[in-house]
Amino acid sequence: MRDPGSISRKDSRPTDFERLLREWDSIFLQTVDPTRSRRMEAILDVLGSRLQQPIRVLDLGTGPGPLADRMLARFPGGRVVGVDSDPVLLQVCEQARSRYGNRVSLVLADLKSESWSTGLPTEGFDAAVSSLALHWLDESELRSLYRELLRLLRPGGLLVNGDRLPSDRTKEAPRDRTASSDGRRQASQEPASVAAFRLEWKRWWSGLERDSSMRSAFRERKVRMPGPIPPRRTTGPRVPVTVESHKRGMRAVGFRETAVTWRNHDFRVLVGTN
Ligand SMILES: C[S@@+](CC[C@H](N)C(=O)[O-])C[C@H]1O[C@@H](n2cnc3c(N)ncnc32)[C@H](O)[C@@H]1O
Repeated sequence: MRDPGSISRKDSRPTDFERLLREWDSIFLQTVDPTRSRRMEAILDVLGSRLQQPIRVLDLGTGPGPLADRMLARFPGGRVVGVDSDPVLLQVCEQARSRYGNRVSLVLADLKSESWSTGLPTEGFDAAVSSLALHWLDESELRSLYRELLRLLRPGGLLVNGDRLPSDRTKEAPRDRTASSDGRRQASQEPASVAAFRLEWKRWWSGLERDSSMRSAFRERKVRMPGPIPPRRTTGPRVPVTVESHKRGMRAVGFRETAVTWRNHDFRVLVGTN
């Protein structure tokens, strides 16, 4: 799409998009999402144990592509279609993942829109996955999304969502005991980690904004998603949708089974089977 060789910054060095992706991961990991690596591994474990390779996977809210990246590395024959509403993040993803060639394709679409799937290059996916993204949708938007995913997945295909999915039932002991020290940090979400996140988040976005090769993506972002840079959370339900509500929504539209396969405090991996 865009030529990375044409990038010009004040110091004239091209932006290292792979580094930007690693930094994205590290910012979340070190601050507000300490169990993300294990949660993403747990998502991939489901794909590895329940599906026959090679797999075709849809990554919902792919962002700069940390989950897609892990999938492409772990499943060498696999293909990923990443969907996101943010043109800037999609461009970072595209540049950071260029070495995977046509194994990855990206679609700019708003998952809240009725027509979000019209730009997908294919259907009949083996799985749809998501990491830390579907909490932007409320119950009714999730219901529509689930209905459409059921159509896009092949029979027996899986929806694997790893996100903050609190339970109606509280005070359960953490199941992933190997993660207990990280879990303690996550459980309290202390202001220090949120403050650290804000600082790093601002630095990450400002660096990107200074890159002239990103100008048109930022312009497009301004039209589609007016608001400040760095972006602040402006939509989504105030109270997170519970894991029980997610399960009910999935069952209501026709998912045959739903099960939690991994958990650390409020973070869970929820699997639905078509
Ligand atoms: C916290 S980031 C997570 C990105 C990546 N999956 C990860 O685990 O790091 C949330 C992502 O969801 C995307 N997103 C939020 N609402 C969306 C929507 N309605 N449609 C498509 N993408 C959306 C954001 O643009 C962002 O890339």
